[in-house]
Amino acid sequence: MAFRGWRPPPPPLLLLLLWVTGQAAPVAGLGSDAELQIERRFVPDECPRTVRSGDFVRYHYVGTFPDGQKFDSSYDRDSTFNVFVGKGQLITGMDQALVGMCVNERRFVKIPPKLAYGNEGVSGVIPPNSVLHFDVLLMDIWNSEDQVQIHTYFKPPSCPRTIQVSDFVRYHYNGTFLDGTLFDSSHNRMKTYDTYVGIGWLIPGMDKGLLGMCVGEKRIITIPPFLAYGEDGDGKDIPGQASLVFDVALLDLHNPKDSISIENKVVPENCERISQSGDFLRYHYNGTLLDGTLFDSSYSRNRTFDTYIGQGYVIPGMDEGLLGVCIGEKRRIVVPPHLGYGEEGRDGEVPGSAVLVFDIELLELVAGLPEGYMFIWNGEVSPNLFEEIDKDGNGEVLLEEFSEYIHAQVASGKGKLAPGFDAELIVKNMFTNQDRNGDGKVTAEEFKLKDQEAKHDEL
Ligand SMILES: *[C@@H]1O[C@H](CO)[C@@H](O)[C@H](O)[C@H]1NC(C)=O
Ligand SMILES: *[C@@H]1O[C@H](CO)[C@@H](O)[C@H](O)[C@H]1NC(C)=O
Ligand SMILES: *[C@@H]1O[C@H](CO)[C@@H](O)[C@H](O)[C@H]1NC(C)=O
Repeated sequence: MAFRGWRPPPPPLLLLLLWVTGQAAPVAGLGSDAELQIERRFVPDECPRTVRSGDFVRYHYVGTFPDGQKFDSSYDRDSTFNVFVGKGQLITGMDQALVGMCVNERRFVKIPPKLAYGNEGVSGVIPPNSVLHFDVLLMDIWNSEDQVQIHTYFKPPSCPRTIQVSDFVRYHYNGTFLDGTLFDSSHNRMKTYDTYVGIGWLIPGMDKGLLGMCVGEKRIITIPPFLAYGEDGDGKDIPGQASLVFDVALLDLHNPKDSISIENKVVPENCERISQSGDFLRYHYNGTLLDGTLFDSSYSRNRTFDTYIGQGYVIPGMDEGLLGVCIGEKRRIVVPPHLGYGEEGRDGEVPGSAVLVFDIELLELVAGLPEGYMFIWNGEVSPNLFEEIDKDGNGEVLLEEFSEYIHAQVASGKGKLAPGFDAELIVKNMFTNQDRNGDGKVTAEEFKLKDQEAKHDEL
C-alpha cells in the first residue's frame, strides 16, 4: 500500500502518444478490429452539452489490451487527463471516441491500430498492431469561446434592487465541478460568504455571474476555468482546468454609499406633531434581515421600545429614521450595515455586514427636555415657591411635601418631568440636591442657596 500523498511519477506514455501519432501508418484488413467501436456504458439523464471537436476536456480512463492487461490508467496518477479534442493531441481513435460525450458519461472504446499506434507501436509499452481498449469517464468540458452561464431557477416576487458593480453582498453557495462533485460550500462553515462584487475580490466569472441578482434569487453560475482558477487550479481543492458550478442564493445586498431609506409609510390623517431630535418615543417594531429572517421584535417582549432619539441611544440609522414620525404612523426603515451593526453584527442575532429592515409603529411621542434637564417649568416660576411647597407653613419641606407639589405641577401642566425615567427617582434626586445638609428636610435657607446656583435638575 502506498502512503497517502505519495504519487508515482506519470508514465511518459501519453506524451509519446502525441509524438507517435503523426507517424502511425494506417493498417488495413484486420477484420472487426479494424474499426473504432464505441459502447456507451453509462449515459446520465442530464446532458446539457456534449463534446465537440475543439473543446477542452478532463477525463479519467483505464487503457487495456484486448486480453485485459492494463497498460495505463489516469486513476493510478490520481488526476484527470486534460486535453483538447480534435486537434491531433490524442491518437486519432481517441479524438474521435470522445466526440458526443456528456459529462459523467462512461464509454468503453476499442481503437484499432490504424487509429492508435499502427504497426510500429510504442517501444516497450505498446506492441506493433495493438488494438487498444479504453474505459473513459468524462469529467469536464469547456471551450475557449465559453462565457459565464447564468441560470436563474428561483426569482422572488419583488426585486426592488439588483447587484451592481461595487455592491457588497452576502450569499450562500455550493461549489461543484461539472460532474457534480462538491468542492466547497458556505453551509459547511455555517456562514454566508461576504464580499464586494465587480472589483476583483472574486474570480472574474463570479464577479460577472453575480451581477443583476436580486435578494432572494437563486441561480446557477457556470464558469469556464479561464474565468476561474485557470491552468493551475487553486492549489487546494480545485484542480487545473476545472469548470466550476456555483449554486448561489443571495441573502443581502447594499452599497457602502447607501443611506437609510424609508418605505411603506402609513401616516394618520391627524398629525399634530412629528418627532424631532431629543424627543422621547414609544414604538413597536419588527426587525428583519433582507431575506425576511426576524432577528428582533418588541412584540415578542410584549412591550414597546422606549427611547430618546437623535442622541445616540439607538443605532445611527434608527436615530435618523425615527425623525419626522407622527403618533400612529407606520413606516419601514431600511438601514445599511454601516449605519446599523457594522461588520461585526450583533452577537447571535444580526450577522456581520447585514442590512436591517425595521417595520415600526409609533405609539407615543413626548417632547424631550433640553439636554441635561430632568424637570422644567412650562411657564414662569412662582416668586413664592418655597412657601407654596411648604404647605403646612412650618418652614421645612419634607420629601412627601416636595413630591406632592412636583406631581401637582406636572399634573396641571405647569411643569414637566423628563420622559422615560422613573418620576419618583427624579423627584427624590431633586430633593436630595436641595437638602444640602442631608437631614431629610429642606429649609428656606437651603432652598435659596441652591436657587442662586441655578443648576440643572433643580428648581
Ligand atoms: C446548497 O446545499 C445545501 C445542502 O444540500 C442546500 O440546502 C442549499 O439549498 C444548496 N444551495 C445553496 C444556494 O445554498
Ligand atoms: C401581553 O400583554 C397583554 C396586555 O397587557 C396581555 O393580555 C398578554 O397576555 C401579554 N402577552 C404575553 C405573552 O405576555
Ligand atoms: C410585526 O409583526 C407582527 C406579526 O407578524 C404584526 O402583527 C405587526 O403588525 C408587525 N408590526 C409592524 C409595525 O409591522
